[in-house]
Amino acid sequence: MTDIAHNSASLGVHSLVAGYGKKQVLNGVTLEVASGEIVALIGHNGAGKSTLLKAMFGLIPIWSGQVHLNGQTWSKPTPRDLLRSGVAYVPQGNRVFMDLTVQENLEMGGVTLADKTALSAGMERVFTLFPALKGRFKQQAGTLSGGEKQMLALANALILSPRVLLLDEPSLGLAPPLVSEALGQIQQISSASGVTVLVVEQKVREVLKISQRVFVLRNGQVSFTGSAEELRNETKLREVYL
Ligand SMILES: Nc1ncnc2c1ncn2[C@@H]1O[C@H](COP(=O)(O)OP(=O)(O)O)[C@@H](O)[C@H]1O
Ligand SMILES: [Mg+2]
Repeated sequence: MTDIAHNSASLGVHSLVAGYGKKQVLNGVTLEVASGEIVALIGHNGAGKSTLLKAMFGLIPIWSGQVHLNGQTWSKPTPRDLLRSGVAYVPQGNRVFMDLTVQENLEMGGVTLADKTALSAGMERVFTLFPALKGRFKQQAGTLSGGEKQMLALANALILSPRVLLLDEPSLGLAPPLVSEALGQIQQISSASGVTVLVVEQKVREVLKISQRVFVLRNGQVSFTGSAEELRNETKLREVYL
């Protein structure tokens, strides 16, 4: 982690409260992901994991609390602020534009890049990471396999050379053998580029293999923070989550 550290940033939230309409979902979440670290965010269905990522990325309003990235702090972040600061977000369901080709999807992903040279450099970079996509350049995204759609969603985020990646269940819908492959790829990308990763996953055993630490979200709060090993040693947590 020497010459690549420039492409990385620490990200955190402090006492974050948010929800939908009158329904409060996040009840004061505080967490910190260090530069270059991969941290898993786990918890039951409905615990607020997706809500937390959406609030961090400015897609839903924050009622109180802050999001911070290196030295910057926002109490009302917008996706534009975060994108500009090098944060990329891949929503649950690995959404891509089904009617557009792989190339057009990547052009959309790279829409904030300065010019065509930066866009083609970005495309070359993601094709090196995902050679399978290169051969499908002109193919409609809707006709890709589940694994390829997941690659494309990730490629759309990586084309911007982010410093932080927020990933919401990247393995969702993938056949079991592809789950560890997809997560392994995320680990490789992080160790090669230094990108900081906060990854929500239901496949707890699998995600623990690539994560330095894990947060458990329960009732809209962080109920556990520790290493994978520490989670395994907590009998109650092990019974519930592993
Ligand atoms: N768009 C929405 N409008 C209203 N309530 C929502 C919306 N999205 C999620 N919720 C509710 O917020 C809570 C947390 O959901 P979510 O963050 O999606 O959980 P998780 O990702 O941990 O499964 C749930 O009770 C869910 O029903
Ligand atoms: Mg979710």
